[in-house]
Amino acid sequence: MSQQASPAGPLLQTLVSLLLLTGLPGAVSLKNVRMRVVPAAVEAGRPATVLCEYDLENSGLYSVKFYRGTHEFYRYSAADEPHTKVFPFPQGLPSSPVNLQRSNQTQVYLGEVSPSLAGNLSCEVTTDDNFVTRMVYTNLIVAVKPEGPPSLSATKAAYDPGEVLYATCRAKPSQPAADLSFYINDKEVGHGIPEVLNTSQGLLQARLDLHLRLTEEHFAGSRDHDSLPLRCHAEVPHLFIHNQYLRLPRRTKQPIPARVTQPNGGVRLPASGGVLLLALLGVLPGLTATMR
Ligand SMILES: *[C@@H]1O[C@H](CO)[C@@H](O)[C@H](O)[C@H]1NC(C)=O
Ligand SMILES: *[C@@H]1O[C@H](CO)[C@@H](O)[C@H](O)[C@H]1NC(C)=O
Ligand SMILES: *[C@@H]1O[C@H](CO)[C@@H](O)[C@H](O)[C@H]1NC(C)=O
Repeated sequence: MSQQASPAGPLLQTLVSLLLLTGLPGAVSLKNVRMRVVPAAVEAGRPATVLCEYDLENSGLYSVKFYRGTHEFYRYSAADEPHTKVFPFPQGLPSSPVNLQRSNQTQVYLGEVSPSLAGNLSCEVTTDDNFVTRMVYTNLIVAVKPEGPPSLSATKAAYDPGEVLYATCRAKPSQPAADLSFYINDKEVGHGIPEVLNTSQGLLQARLDLHLRLTEEHFAGSRDHDSLPLRCHAEVPHLFIHNQYLRLPRRTKQPIPARVTQPNGGVRLPASGGVLLLALLGVLPGLTATMR
């Protein structure tokens, strides 16, 4: 029996060792391929590092290729000398910002990032045994700061409690779009989601409207309660924070002015006015009597 089975033995052994050498079909010898850009939103003209990280397990590295869209712009290949290579960008894109001295098999250093580079970046890792290949991608966000604070306007020049305030805040174009919010007396009001428009320069312009029924409380932060301090806050985290202010006067002046709360003004104006009138009425007949 054992002699009959023997011809199959060496063949099976060869098959098994062949599989062990080359790796089982579909066996993963490359894990956790991941990509990110540091910083997450790069300011135009500033440097950035594009990282492509991976776990080779027991394999060796064959190559790492970096793409912008479908164009390969950088390659690390273990077999070639030198290992690193830069490919110029096609027309319409800037000259390659890759700094070879600071790039290797896990990262590409870009010396100066231009807005036109924004978009899909991918990296493709290949191992040297049976050429297991993995590709991942990330989005390169090229940040552009707005030229200044947002603009803030209201439909009317003055408001009273009980009226509805219609205000609009428009950010200057930026990338990414600014997040906008309204504040009165440092308390957020409105809680809306900004509408975002594309500009011809490829930037984003955020706009937020406020519809708010006003109460006495909204005027409480101003001296004499005579105005409404409205603020629009524009922000992209880690890039900029801008505020724009608009002080809207109260339309109808209050009948009770600040004298009520003045330290020495113990006498209320309407009351004192009344007392004065009574005094005059009482004194006048006396005066006329003594004049006779
Ligand atoms: C990014 O580019 C890669 C390579 O061209 C492609 O496979 C992938 O689908 C793209 N991803 C997106 C979200 O466009
Ligand atoms: C690639 O370069 C970076 C920065 O110089 C370094 O921190 C990293 O260890 C390098 N990676 C390898 C695999 O040598
Ligand atoms: C702005 O442009 C981008 C890319 O061109 C597009 O994906 C997006 O939908 C546009 N957004 C608006 C609000 O038009």
